[in-house]
Amino acid sequence: MAAYKIIDHTYDVVVVGAGGAGLRATMGMGVAGFKTACITKVFPTRSHTVAAQGGIGASLGNMAEDNWKWHMYDTVKGSDWLGDQDAIEYMCREAVPAVYELEHFGVPFSRTDEGKIYQRPFGGHMSNYGEKPVQRACAAADRTGHAILHTLYQQCLKHSCEFFVEYFALDLIMDADGACRGVMAWNLDDGALHRFRAHKVVLASGGYGRAYFSCTSAHTCTGDGHGMVARAGLPLQDMEFVQFHPTGIYGSGCLITEGARGEGGILYNSAGERFMERYAPTAKDLASRDVVSRAMTMEIREGRGVGKDKDHIHLDLSHLPPETLELRLPGISETAKIFAGVDVTREPIPVLPTVHYNMGGIPTNIHGEVLRPVAGNPDATVPGLMAIGEAACVSVHGANRLGTNSLLDIVVFGRAAALHCQATMKPGQPHAPLPAGAGDGAVARFDRLRNASGTLHTSDIRLAMQKTMQMDAAVFRTSKSLADGVSKMYEVAETKGKLKINDRSTVWNSDLVEALELENLMDCALATIVSAEARKESRGAHAHEDHPERDDANWMKHSLAWVENGKVRLDYRPVHTWTLTDEVQYIEPKKRVY
Ligand code: FUM
Repeated sequence: MAAYKIIDHTYDVVVVGAGGAGLRATMGMGVAGFKTACITKVFPTRSHTVAAQGGIGASLGNMAEDNWKWHMYDTVKGSDWLGDQDAIEYMCREAVPAVYELEHFGVPFSRTDEGKIYQRPFGGHMSNYGEKPVQRACAAADRTGHAILHTLYQQCLKHSCEFFVEYFALDLIMDADGACRGVMAWNLDDGALHRFRAHKVVLASGGYGRAYFSCTSAHTCTGDGHGMVARAGLPLQDMEFVQFHPTGIYGSGCLITEGARGEGGILYNSAGERFMERYAPTAKDLASRDVVSRAMTMEIREGRGVGKDKDHIHLDLSHLPPETLELRLPGISETAKIFAGVDVTREPIPVLPTVHYNMGGIPTNIHGEVLRPVAGNPDATVPGLMAIGEAACVSVHGANRLGTNSLLDIVVFGRAAALHCQATMKPGQPHAPLPAGAGDGAVARFDRLRNASGTLHTSDIRLAMQKTMQMDAAVFRTSKSLADGVSKMYEVAETKGKLKINDRSTVWNSDLVEALELENLMDCALATIVSAEARKESRGAHAHEDHPERDDANWMKHSLAWVENGKVRLDYRPVHTWTLTDEVQYIEPKKRVY
C-alpha cells in the first residue's frame, strides 16, 4: 500500500455535512463554546438543502387557527403510524420556536399584508385533527431551503466555526469498546488524508436519492454517512421507505414544489379530469405524497396518462393570478421554462412521481444519539456518535414524510444535537489517546479503490444499481418485483469487485470520489431492497400489491438492516407507542383517509 500523509486534528465536535442540519448543529456547538469542525464535500451553501422549495412546517397560525397538536396528529397519520410519537411530539412542539429563531437569525421569509410570516397549504397538513387543509408551511417564496441555508451559514461564520470545505469523509474511527472517536477524511484539493479526533462525531450527510435513476436529489446525495455507519457494523433503520414526490418534471426529475398545489395548482389526467377528487375527496391534490404519487401512477397504468406515450400527468397553474406566480412561485416558474419548455401562465407542466426523500436512515433518539439496539435494550446508544437530518431516522417521518417536515427536522434536531452536547460535555475536555492503528481501515479502503484495476467503470455499476432500484423498488411493489430486485442488487453489488479506476491521482480525482460514493450508495440500495422485500404489508410509501393492507399486528415495527460483507441481515425494533409529556396522548392507529 502507498504511504499517505496523514494530518491530525483534535476537536470537541466534528460535524460531517453542511446542509441545514449540519449547519444548525455546527452553529449551536459554536454558540455553546465547543471547538467545532464542519467537514463538507461541497461548499456549504451548495448543499442539497438549498433545493428545498415550498416551506418549513410550524403551526404559527398566521393565516388561520392552528395548533402544534394538530401538526403532531397530521405527522403521525402521515407516517402511517410508523413514526415514534415521542419524537413527533418533540418536533411539532419545537417547530414554532424553531421558526421564530430562524426569523431572528435573518431568514427572509415571505410576509402577509400584516407583516407576519407567510404560510401556505401543503399535503397532509390539516386543521382540527384532519378536518380541512390548513396553511402551515412557512415560506420564503419557493426558495425556503436556499434562504435557510444561507442564513445558517452566516450564523456559523459569526460564531467562528471552522469549515473543512471539499473534504470527503471516508470512515468513522471506532474503538474496541464500540465508541466513535473521530472520523477520517480526504482533502480533495491537495490529496492529504486527515484524522479528526473528537468527543462527538455528528453525521449530517443527507440522504441517498442517487441510488435511484430518477430523483430530485442533488448528485451529492450518496448516503455517505449511511455507508460509514454500515461499515462500522451498525444498522440502518426503515430503509424500505423511500418517498416519491408527486411532481418531478417529466424527463429531468427536477422538483416542482408541492407549494404549487398549495397555491392552487391542480393535477389533470388525459381526460382533463381532476382525478385526485376520486382518491382523496377532502384533501384532493393536497393529500399526502404517497397517496398522490400512487393515484398518479394508477391513472397512468389505467391509460389516462398524458403525452404521446400517456406516461405522465399534467400540473396546471395557468389559472393562478400572475402575481401569485411572480411573488410565491418564481423559482418553479423558471424551472418549468428551463427544464420543460413550459410557460406556466399558459401551459401545464408535465410531471411524474420522482424519488425525493429517504424516511429511513441511521437510527437515533431525539437528542441525535445513534442507536445500536441490543437484546433487552432497543434504544441503546453508541458513545460518541450522533446523526441528524435526512441521514438520520429519529423516527419522525415513519413510513411517509409530510412535505415541509424535512426543513423542520433539520433545524429542530440540529439544534437538539447541540443542546445535548451542551448538557453532557464541557468545551475542551481532555481526549483519551486514539487506539493504535486508528484510521488504518479507511486508508486501506481509499488505497484499494484508488488502485482498482478491473474492467467496469463506476458509472456502469452505478447505472445498473440505479435502474434496478428504479424498476424493482418503485411506487408500487410486488413480491416478484422485490424478489427480483434483491437478487439483481446482489449481482450488481458483486460487480464492485471488477471496478476500474482510470485516474490514480489523489488530487481532484472525481473518478475516485464517485467510486467512494458508489460504495456508500450500494450499501443503501441493498439495505433498501432487502428490507422492502421482507415487509409483507403496505404502509406509507411501501405499497405492496400482494399485501395491500397495513398490518399493525405483525408489522408495526422498525426494520433494522446490517450490511455485512455485502449481505444484509435484518432485525426489528419496536415503534415507540408513548408520548414525551402528558400534554398529548398516544394517537391510536386508524385507517388513513384524506
Ligand atoms: O415540495 C416541496 O417544496 C418539497 C418540500 C419538502 O420535501 O418538504
